[in-house]
Amino acid sequence: MAFLEIKGLNKSYGQAKILEEIDLTVEKGEIMALIGPTGSGKTTLLRLIDLLEQPDEGSVVFDGVLVSALPEKERQKARRRMAMVFQKPVMFKASVRENVSYGLKIRGKSEEEKVRDALEAVGLLGYETRDANTLSGGEMQRIALARALILEPELLLLDEPTANLDPKSAASIDQIIRDFSGQKTAVIMATHNMQQCKRLANRVTVLKGGRVAGRGRPEDIFSQKMPLSSCTSFD
Ligand SMILES: Nc1ncnc2c1ncn2[C@@H]1O[C@H](COP(=O)(O)OP(=O)(O)OP(=O)(O)O)[C@@H](O)[C@H]1O
Ligand SMILES: [Mg+2]
Repeated sequence: MAFLEIKGLNKSYGQAKILEEIDLTVEKGEIMALIGPTGSGKTTLLRLIDLLEQPDEGSVVFDGVLVSALPEKERQKARRRMAMVFQKPVMFKASVRENVSYGLKIRGKSEEEKVRDALEAVGLLGYETRDANTLSGGEMQRIALARALILEPELLLLDEPTANLDPKSAASIDQIIRDFSGQKTAVIMATHNMQQCKRLANRVTVLKGGRVAGRGRPEDIFSQKMPLSSCTSFD
C-alpha cells in the first residue's frame, strides 16, 4: 500500500460538485504536482488530504490508516505528521520567530536553533524579531514555508508555494523543496507554474472540473500536447 492512498474521493459544496472520483497515490520521496485550471479543485483536494475537510465519499489512507474516517482527536494526531503551506499565507500577530516556531513539537535541537535553520533555509535569517504582519507577500510565503519545514513533516502539502515570488526567489524555494523532499517526506504541490512542475515533480496529476484528467511523469504529460495552456504560466 502506498504511503498516501486516495480512493473514490467526492466532495460537494451545496449543489456544486467540486471533486469527483479522485484516485491518487503518493510515496515518500516523491514530489507530486497537482496542476489544472483555476477552480479545478486543487486547493480543495489539498484541504481534504490535510484533513481540514471531510470527503462526502471515498477514503484517504495515510500510512496504512483510514484517516478520513477518524474522529477529530485521532485526525489531529495524523495531522501532526503533515504540514500545509496555504495559497494565501496567514501570519499571526506576532514576531517572525513566533510565527515560525508555532506548532513545533519535537525538541531535539533547541527551538532557537531550529528557527534559525528554517529561516536560513528560506533566506530570511535575521528576520526573527520582525513583526510578521509587516512582511511583504513573498516574505510571508517564505515564512509560511519555514513554519512547515520546521515540523519535519512526512507529508508536505504546498499550495502555490512560489506564487508571490520573483523568479530568483522562486528558484531558491524550488531548491529548498527539492532538498527537503527525500526518503522521509512525500510532497504534493499545487502549481500553475509549469516550469516549476517540470523542474520538481516526479509525477503530475492534472485536475479538470474536479476530475483527474491526466496523470503521469512530467515528460509524458507535457509531450501529450494536452490543452494545458489554460492552467499554466511558463515563466
Ligand atoms: N468552502 C467553499 N464553499 C463553496 N465553494 C467552494 C468552497 N471552496 C472552494 N469552492 C469552490 O470549489 C471550486 C474549486 O476551488 P479550489 O479552490 O479547490 O480550486 P483551485 O483548483 O485551487 O483553483 P486556483 O487555481 O484558483 O487556486 C471553485 O469553484 C470554488 O469556488
Ligand atoms: Mg487553489
